[in-house]
Amino acid sequence: MAKNTVFSDGAPSSDIMIIGEAPGQEEDIQGKPFVGQSGQLLDNMLRAIGIARRDVYISNIVFWRPPGNRTPTSDEITFCLPYVEAHVKLMNPKVLLLLGGVAVRTILNTVEPITRIRGSVHTYHEMNVIATYHPAYLLRSPAQKYLVFQDLLLLKKIIG
Ligand code: URA
Repeated sequence: MAKNTVFSDGAPSSDIMIIGEAPGQEEDIQGKPFVGQSGQLLDNMLRAIGIARRDVYISNIVFWRPPGNRTPTSDEITFCLPYVEAHVKLMNPKVLLLLGGVAVRTILNTVEPITRIRGSVHTYHEMNVIATYHPAYLLRSPAQKYLVFQDLLLLKKIIG
């Protein structure tokens, strides 16, 4: 059972809002998104393109850790969705970076796999959207990191 609500971390006025899937164990303990292994990889990848974690704003599709780190159910996603939508509209970032299939399917309302969605700029309420693989996937498949770097460079180009 989740111990904490994990809502957001970082700079609310950032041009970049990152949305992942759901908190894991470490995130549940600390009450902050992306502070475990996936978060460390995310921080390193951002740093590699010259962006510090404290300069982005980070949240998730679901605000509580699903038991055993399973994928959130559609009921859990539907419950959080109005808050996620309001949150994104309120922050109104220049670019929304979606990490992983749950964030991509939920925000872009698509069933297309990330392989098809990544690599180009989409829009959500007039915000630019970049979709890429989740860092947890990269921990399992590090050979795919170059694709995420391509997506992050695209993000950097949009930010200017
Ligand atoms: N994975 C996510 O999708 N979000 C987190 O906050 C941590 C791991």
